[in-house]
Amino acid sequence: MPKQSVLPSRTTGRSSVSRCAGCLCTTPTTPCSTRRVLLSSRVAHSLATVRSIARRRGTPLTALAPGLLEARGDDLEALVTEAAAALSSVEAAEVRCLLTGVEGTGPDLLAQALTAPSLGSAAARLRHADLVPLFADEPGRFHAEYQRIVRLGDGGTLGHEALLRATAVDGSRIMPDQLFPAADEAGWTHVLDRVGRTTAIRDAGPWLADDLLFINFVPTSIYRPEVCLQTTERAAAEAGLRMDQLVFEVTEGHVIEDVDHLDRVFAHYRERGCRVALDDLGSGWSSLALLVRLQPDIVKLERAIVQALPGPAARAVVQAVVDITHSYGGLVLAEGVETEQQAAIARELGCDLGQGWLWGRPVRPELPAPAGTALPAGGPDPSWPDAAVAVDPHAAPEAPEPPPVPEPGSGAAELLVRAVGLTGSSVVVVDATAPDMPIVYVNAAFTEQTGYSAAESLGRNCRFLQGPGTDRDTLDDVADALAAGRPFRATLLNARKDGSTWWNELHLSPLHDAAGRLTHYVGFQHDVSDRVVAEEALRERAGTDPLTGTANRTALLTELDRQVHVPGVGPVVLFVDLDGFKGVNDRFGHAAGDSVLRIVADRLRQVVRSRDLLARLGGDEFVVVLADVDQPADDGPASALAAGLAAAHRVAADVQRVLADPVELLPHGSVVVGASVGVAIHPADGETALELLRAADLQMYRAKARRAQGLSATPG
Ligand SMILES: Cc1cc2nc3c(=O)[nH]c(=O)nc-3n(C[C@H](O)[C@H](O)[C@H](O)COP(=O)(O)O)c2cc1C
Repeated sequence: MPKQSVLPSRTTGRSSVSRCAGCLCTTPTTPCSTRRVLLSSRVAHSLATVRSIARRRGTPLTALAPGLLEARGDDLEALVTEAAAALSSVEAAEVRCLLTGVEGTGPDLLAQALTAPSLGSAAARLRHADLVPLFADEPGRFHAEYQRIVRLGDGGTLGHEALLRATAVDGSRIMPDQLFPAADEAGWTHVLDRVGRTTAIRDAGPWLADDLLFINFVPTSIYRPEVCLQTTERAAAEAGLRMDQLVFEVTEGHVIEDVDHLDRVFAHYRERGCRVALDDLGSGWSSLALLVRLQPDIVKLERAIVQALPGPAARAVVQAVVDITHSYGGLVLAEGVETEQQAAIARELGCDLGQGWLWGRPVRPELPAPAGTALPAGGPDPSWPDAAVAVDPHAAPEAPEPPPVPEPGSGAAELLVRAVGLTGSSVVVVDATAPDMPIVYVNAAFTEQTGYSAAESLGRNCRFLQGPGTDRDTLDDVADALAAGRPFRATLLNARKDGSTWWNELHLSPLHDAAGRLTHYVGFQHDVSDRVVAEEALRERAGTDPLTGTANRTALLTELDRQVHVPGVGPVVLFVDLDGFKGVNDRFGHAAGDSVLRIVADRLRQVVRSRDLLARLGGDEFVVVLADVDQPADDGPASALAAGLAAAHRVAADVQRVLADPVELLPHGSVVVGASVGVAIHPADGETALELLRAADLQMYRAKARRAQGLSATPG
């Protein structure tokens, strides 16, 4: 029995679209009329099966060449469907099948036959021909719903996960569990994946502001990231979203097949400034190995694990995932949280983020109202106030077409003033024609936000909102934009009247009069302190080893990479490996081992200078980077090298001295760990950060071997 479409049968024009469904097109919209089927295979018995089916059905069949058959007739779709069902899935995957209306046997057609979809895909495309009209009208047929992702610490919103939804031609909703398998069978996963990414971005553009957008993707649908992800970047640019707002998440099921490929896709996304996430994690130990290998920025714990909390097995898995993820600076997200109790346990176990019905189901956000007439063009967007977020700081001044400005005293102008006064967003208007742009209007929300009344604000330049922490470079950019009459967006640290500080995301829009002259600037102030603080914490975490508080591997490599590009001798790298650490772990357990690592880090801090970098690479390996080795003024590189080595050996001796002291381990008593140290110096021992680390590591091993033989106590 041939399989049926997994989509509910609802298309009336099925025969017209189904003709295309088995042809070569990778964009499933090209119309063609099927009069011939070309089938090619190197497996003789597969074609023999096709022959006997064609004979039984009375379909004329010709051998065009060895391994290439041509069938002609009216009901070729039925032949394809029956042949696919008769062959095993492996056989059907191996036969190429081209349904076409084109005559002749020229090289073009033969090339198409050779690169046509498999017989299995062709049959699936016939079954799922209902998808074709959806792809033909992407904006009309696909939309995204979004589910909130919160920070478990303070309940604030971090971002939203986009979920692709489709509407059939008859208006009914197609469920994702029908849509994705159907596209998969038909070989259109890459098309649906692209639609998913671009729809998520397009629909979020108008309202996302600065939240993160989580987008699912299937790594196998991305053949070459540099090429296949260009549509994503274009969509982000068109929607006014920054690449660093995008988090690409992949489910574990897709990962396992080709981790190297996923690694490359992740690397590409990261290069472009995006974050990456691994979904559905926790179902097996294999996933923990994946986690260590891929080190995603965000790890989403599978809903089944979260809902099994506080059961001991679930607790152990969550703990392991949290420990690993935090060790490299990633964040853990608990999915499927439905109750306050689950949220509390997830938080207690160290999860950073949450998603689930407790905070809301996926919803389709209402888009801002279409452009109205109340506000003048060239000023704030009519979908104000939130659309001010979409103001492009680099955009050219608004079109000079003179806008209809409401006359003072006219109903529209009064209505506008009342509306601005009532809005919950802080608004300020300044006179752009007067010296130093004094404030001429503030609304009630401004007073509430800043603590300054209208009387205290009018007539002053807005810089009275700034404090010593306000970034001067950003203010210079603001001043440049104002001088050029451009719109601008900046995030500034401001101070309230009571002295407390807040992060102000300021959107500035120029207002022009009927003659196109700049008369006013409107500023919208958004308090984004939560976001900025969370981002700082994220950044902090990304560079810090959570166990010891030292820099982590990523921060180390970044800093080393920076330093090796500074001309001259240095940096000097000390690779420190503890000698007796494994024994501590084995005898007293990991908690004791962690205490030792913290104590070791504290002792190392005592012997490195504040401008040096101390990092934990992982396990019991630490690295010290001596930033600027003592370089005698005029003596050239040879003596700089000697000075660097001397400094390194001084610090190495200090390291060994402080680590030779016994470590007090309550309640076990004292243990002695000791350390082996290897030294490498740039550029003598390595040109790049990794070469330097490798050289220092090798020296450390030599030193360890010598220590084991009782030959030396000095570093390698
Ligand atoms: C409409 C408008 C609103 C502004 N709102 C703020 C604000 O809320 N906070 C702030 O620090 N600066 C604000 N500024 C920027 C300052 O007024 C000023 O332009 C900036 O400090 C750069 O100029 P300066 O280099 O002369 O200080 C605003 C400017 C305009 C035109």
